[in-house]
Amino acid sequence: MRGLARAAEAAHGKRAFGLWEGEDLVGYADDEPEITDGTVPGDVNLTYAVHARARGRGVAVAAVGLLVKNLARTGAGRAAILRIDPDNPASLRVAEKAGSPRVGEFLSTTDRHEDGTPARLLLLRRPQPPADHG
Ligand SMILES: CC(C)(COP(=O)(O)OP(=O)(O)OC[C@H]1O[C@@H](n2cnc3c(N)ncnc32)[C@H](O)[C@@H]1OP(=O)(O)O)[C@@H](O)C(=O)NCCC(=O)NCCS
Repeated sequence: MRGLARAAEAAHGKRAFGLWEGEDLVGYADDEPEITDGTVPGDVNLTYAVHARARGRGVAVAAVGLLVKNLARTGAGRAAILRIDPDNPASLRVAEKAGSPRVGEFLSTTDRHEDGTPARLLLLRRPQPPADHG
């Protein structure tokens, strides 16, 4: 996997990455330091999606590992967080395998169910290791 080979080095806002297996673009991941929904200052929100044809072989877990490593390298944020719908077992398994424990849940101010009610999301937080400039 070429992973984050095309990592954007933007100082602010969402940084988006393609997830590659060889020459095949199989998914998407991003980190966003400025999100405020359910978070505290210093949290960096991670999201990811993997194409259906490439699921179940570790792409998302590897992507989270690469995002976290990249955050440590750049010294961005104090914790990598995931905000996951409790009805998304695959994503919850990704978080578990990536070492992000569940720390709570909250009613989203941005995400809504189809009926318009606020989504209840699980919050998972993994503290960042000290900055690694190697
Ligand atoms: C969630 C998603 C990114 C996972 O991608 P992936 O590359 O298949 O994930 P991985 O292969 O790294 O790991 C998936 C794990 O979840 C497990 N899993 C998959 N579907 C599951 C289900 N319905 N119930 C329980 N576990 C499930 C897999 O077996 C695997 O665990 P294992 O390695 O122990 O067997 C992918 O399903 C996806 O893109 N979903 C739609 C977008 C989305 O939900 N994004 C997350 C938003 S928070």
